[in-house]
Amino acid sequence: MSHPELVKVKPDIAANALINRQKYDDMARRASTGPDAFWAAEAKRLDWIKPPTKIKNTSFSGAVSIKWFEDGVLNASANCLDRHLAARGDQVAIIWEGDDPNDQKHVTYRQLHAEVCRMANVLKSLGAKKGDRITIYLPMIVEAAVALLACARIGAVHSVVFGGFSPDSLANRIQDCDSSILITADEGRRGGRKVPLKANADAALKSCPMMKSVLVVRATGGDVPMQAGRDHWYHEAAAQVSADCAPEPMGAEDPLFILYTSGSTGKPKGVLHTTGGYMVWASFTHEYVFDYHPGEIYWCTADVGWVTGHTYIVYGPLANGATTLMFEGIPNYPDSSRFWQVVDKHKVNIFYTAPTAIRALMRDGEAPVKRASRASLRVLGTVGEPINPEAWLWYYRVVGDERCPIVDTWWQTETGGIMITALPGAIDQKPGSATLPLPGVQPVIVDGEGHVLEGPTEGNLCIADSWPGMMRTVFGDHERFVQTYFSTFKGYYFSGDGARRDEDGYYWITGRVDDVINVSGHRMGTAEVESALVAHPKVAEAAVVGFPHDIKGQGIYAYVTLIASEEPTEALRRELVAWVRKEIGPIAAPDAIQWAPGLPKTRSGKIMRRILRKIAANETSNLGDTSTLADPGVVDDLVANRAA
Ligand code: WT7
Repeated sequence: MSHPELVKVKPDIAANALINRQKYDDMARRASTGPDAFWAAEAKRLDWIKPPTKIKNTSFSGAVSIKWFEDGVLNASANCLDRHLAARGDQVAIIWEGDDPNDQKHVTYRQLHAEVCRMANVLKSLGAKKGDRITIYLPMIVEAAVALLACARIGAVHSVVFGGFSPDSLANRIQDCDSSILITADEGRRGGRKVPLKANADAALKSCPMMKSVLVVRATGGDVPMQAGRDHWYHEAAAQVSADCAPEPMGAEDPLFILYTSGSTGKPKGVLHTTGGYMVWASFTHEYVFDYHPGEIYWCTADVGWVTGHTYIVYGPLANGATTLMFEGIPNYPDSSRFWQVVDKHKVNIFYTAPTAIRALMRDGEAPVKRASRASLRVLGTVGEPINPEAWLWYYRVVGDERCPIVDTWWQTETGGIMITALPGAIDQKPGSATLPLPGVQPVIVDGEGHVLEGPTEGNLCIADSWPGMMRTVFGDHERFVQTYFSTFKGYYFSGDGARRDEDGYYWITGRVDDVINVSGHRMGTAEVESALVAHPKVAEAAVVGFPHDIKGQGIYAYVTLIASEEPTEALRRELVAWVRKEIGPIAAPDAIQWAPGLPKTRSGKIMRRILRKIAANETSNLGDTSTLADPGVVDDLVANRAA
């Protein structure tokens, strides 16, 4: 397949787009020369109880302090619901498409408002107050969006835990933020199977004495035990309360949510986002990046358990009065035409998914795509990991019929929303490049010594100044926030990613430069998988690295040293994979395990991961300098015994 260098903005798209190239250049200039005036104007996209007069008050040095719109007062749920009722109360807010293709629901803004008020009142009846943390462990059902908005309505801080995480992972997250209310469901559905959410929650709560109340949504009708005094059925509690609940006035810098994410060391960090800046960023980026026009049907295939679901299924689209599609299922159930069948069924105009899904569908060829017309599609997006040009072109040619621009959106849980991306009507695309920064985003590329590099170059991707949507702290550990993001390169936010900038100023994300693995667009810390492995009684030591994987982007490769009395067997290999699944969740399960009699260590005992990454990637011809190893012989053994 030939690779076009540049896919130009189509004139008809530019003519109807919210932003064309001239407008983009103008916005970028105004945002960088006068951020206060620019963001004061953009803040007007929200309804404020008290409009902000102070706009930007941020510092990336010293103790690091990030404040935006600090004297403004607003409520996120009122911005997503109440303010739309007069003009579009009967417009569909959420189209819900079930795992089973026969299940669907349409929820109008008026209905969603009533349901959110009801859940908010139920939470209040359980004692929830402003500032309390509420954990949400739900499948992709309408109640997941309702739960986020209900917390926001009463000023409680939600912490969503992805339904694929294990009881232990759920327990750790509940303990870390000390939450006293959990919202879960009897079971979830995915690809025709059931996910035992309530059973997992019960197991997690054995080690969570702080948990006072569990609100259980009846999703499948599965038979689950209810603990008297602690557990409450949502449908029963909702029947007792009114559908009116005044939104709590929140300071712009009051916390909106915590979302845990893996880093290179230690346990997952609670990324904290606050109300005003996050909501401005969610609304601004959703409208402009997807060129959202009123009335359009917008579908982001993520799970609400990840930041993509928070910003681009719930807060961004609903703040903009959009119709957002929530999908309970998976791309290949009942078959690999499902995405495109859903596009035709609901006349989806804007479609946002992950490279891993595109690569998986590519394997099944064009026929499942061509069985659907896809005529409604107008804009396509990707997120989560670098997209290889082959997958980009397949998405462009086969899915979009060369008609739809592709926005490859680079961002992170920490950034709150999209940072570097094409804009449908403004920025020519290059397959595999996230292209250019949004107005207000100042990326820089920094070398290992912290020097900012100019022009075409490659290095560490940092951001030079604050933007409204960025995280404010690590929940309960501001020092870790400063250490993780602002200490490597003084005065800059360090993303943990590497990037190349080409002669047109386009950014090409090269992947993580830290010990984080990006598995199917989800972040997994090597340290977390290692500590799960060494918790197994037969494991003495473990080292985990990422390796190239055709579908997942990166797979998880584990080197395992057994205790002296144990012999490596196929049964034990399977046992260890199952162990990690149970300890963390299916996304952490190693794709390959190599038995390692020893690990390559420096004389001071540090594991040389660089060598382990090369062996895992089968790049063994050039292992680099191994002279500093305590026992260079270890490497020969590892090379000879690579896991297939
Ligand atoms: C990491 C953030 C952003 C929501 C989903 C993941 C990688 C994300 C891209 C992209 C290349 C990307 C980065 C980043 N990433 N989008 N378009 N091109 N890489 O959120 O779990 O916080 O992970 O995902 O490595 O650091 P996350």
